[in-house]
Amino acid sequence: MFGLGWGDEGKGKVVDLLCPAFDIVVRFNGGANAGHTVCVGSETFALHLLPTGVLHDTAVGVIGPGVVVDPISLLAEIDTLAGRGVEVAGRLKISERAHLVLAYHKIEDQLSERAAGAEGKIGTTARGIGPCYADKMRRTTAVRFADLSGDKELTPRIRRIVEAKKASFAAMYGEDGGLSSQAVLDDLAQVAERLRSHVCDTTRFLHEAIESGKSLLFEGANGILLDIDHGTYPFVTSSSTGPHGIGPGAGVSPSLVTRLIGVSKAYATRVGAGPFVTELNDAVGERIRQRGREFGTTTGRPRRCGWFDAVTCRYSAQLSGATDLALLHLDTLSGLDEIGVCVAYRCDGQTVRSLPASVSRIERAEPIIEYLPGWQEELRGVRQFEDLPKNARDYVDRIEVLIGVPVTLIGVGPDRSQTLVRGTLRALVKSAEPVGSEK
Ligand code: IMP
Repeated sequence: MFGLGWGDEGKGKVVDLLCPAFDIVVRFNGGANAGHTVCVGSETFALHLLPTGVLHDTAVGVIGPGVVVDPISLLAEIDTLAGRGVEVAGRLKISERAHLVLAYHKIEDQLSERAAGAEGKIGTTARGIGPCYADKMRRTTAVRFADLSGDKELTPRIRRIVEAKKASFAAMYGEDGGLSSQAVLDDLAQVAERLRSHVCDTTRFLHEAIESGKSLLFEGANGILLDIDHGTYPFVTSSSTGPHGIGPGAGVSPSLVTRLIGVSKAYATRVGAGPFVTELNDAVGERIRQRGREFGTTTGRPRRCGWFDAVTCRYSAQLSGATDLALLHLDTLSGLDEIGVCVAYRCDGQTVRSLPASVSRIERAEPIIEYLPGWQEELRGVRQFEDLPKNARDYVDRIEVLIGVPVTLIGVGPDRSQTLVRGTLRALVKSAEPVGSEK
């Protein structure tokens, strides 16, 4: 399960619906930049690093080698859940190969964004994601969980890394960020102590689980348009956000993955900087933002909102080989006279149907919008696809044709129960009412 847009597609809800059918839920990319909001009854949970599976006491959550883990943020998340009665002891496994996001990564993220200025900044979540992945690729300044277990070399190495970071920040940004190696070492001591029981060889754990017939759900974070290789570079995150990230990020071959559920909203959103061809800077965009509660889970930033973009969604669906399309927030579009769908771009005098690589080219693109009639009815009480207003059904059908992937899950509200599930996906969504037409 993975996002087809720029993150925030509603993956938290989908993964939460799927969890009861799986033994193990695996995060394989990103870090605390992700924000999954899950509504369970009257309770709302916002998860950043923990796999959503941990909300279900039968599932084991795995943080794979491809995730960059801010251990302080992870401990805070574990404590918050414990305060609300959700214990992860014995059900959370962290790869010893995973890299740690440390204080200097977050400082570098902030300093580099500030130095880039309004024009040049990426609009990151400031969670240290890019700097940590950069250290991982550089290989000489990285720290992995495996390094925490009694490596005598760690303390002098951390001191050397922190001194090098301070010098480099001072040279590049004119300040050393107030870094202290002792503070980093204190953090690490706390982390080593409290997370020790969770750290293991998750790759071996997953392969043994597969051999013994256990079912695995891979929970993609961020979204394919934020993918480091395939997204709207450079306005992307620093990991492989689609199913192609499962191999390196979890240590499991993609050939073992049997179903690929791509998640999108019934409209488009984006946070941070970067091109967004269907963006609506008007009252309709504001209406979508308010009705859809489009404010970031991780940063609280208002999300940019726009019409559904079939160009980007088809691109992401093809790239990921999606077998199912989960279309969320259909209810948010109620009350509009007409609803736009972008079917192609007009760019440099040409009609473009695939996402250009060049950001400046995407920025010059104009959306070619097809308008479909809207519907006035509220959808939150609907439980069968056939009971949706005709214009809502036609809207879903049109998206299905444009993307070329069956829409097997439709969100009509934030709660688990406000979900229409179709066809064979019903077998995987045990907690939702079996509804809708065959797919
Ligand atoms: P970073 O991942 O913090 O480096 O941010 C890079 C870009 O990805 C920024 O535009 C962020 O707003 C965006 N981003 C990263 N993770 C998410 C997510 O889970 N949802 C939405 N946007 C995200």
